[in-house]
Amino acid sequence: MKSEDVSGDLREVLYTKEDIDARVAELAAAVDADYQGRDVLLVGVLKGALMIMADLSRALSGQYPMDWMAVSSYGSGTKSSGVVRILKDLDTDLTGRDVLIVEDIIDSGLTLSWLKTNLQSRGASSVEVCALLRKPEALKVEIDVKYVGWDIPNEFVVGYGLDWAEQYRNLDCIAVLSEHVYS
Ligand code: XMP
Ligand code: MG
Repeated sequence: MKSEDVSGDLREVLYTKEDIDARVAELAAAVDADYQGRDVLLVGVLKGALMIMADLSRALSGQYPMDWMAVSSYGSGTKSSGVVRILKDLDTDLTGRDVLIVEDIIDSGLTLSWLKTNLQSRGASSVEVCALLRKPEALKVEIDVKYVGWDIPNEFVVGYGLDWAEQYRNLDCIAVLSEHVYS
């Protein structure tokens, strides 16, 4: 789906498909350079990370096995609480593995902070993060993120895997949702 298909629902397109392709290629080049010759497991966080995972993994050179987790954050409405429940766990033993968590967006950072600690406790030799988007104004915890696509304002965005009530996930760009959609 393209922005024209739902233009009435979007306030502003932040990044086009071309912008995303170019940035993901840069992130992939940085990951390749940092992990040369190492066996890295990409861990995608469902469902939002599906697009970045698909594009980043194909832009990487060499073998990068993938696994997936689904987590749910207890909290009121759209706010994350930091209390996380695993809905789908990894199939892979992390002992001695270099892990790169692939995320769509970091908001409060609470989910990711929990996830990093959880994966480290399984014996991974390193756990780093690649997130396409980050909202610096919304951060509630210090979190070290090795690769970030873009820092964005504290507004609700959709597209490229990001949804509002399971909608707009298949939008090919990243856009700020109009308030009239959710109010
Ligand atoms: P925390 O707050 O723990 O949560 O960093 C991150 C998760 O919250 C969701 N999230 C969003 N989803 N547009 C979305 O579609 C947004 O602007 C947004 N902000 C946070 C998302 O699932 C992310 O993984
Ligand atoms: Mg997510």
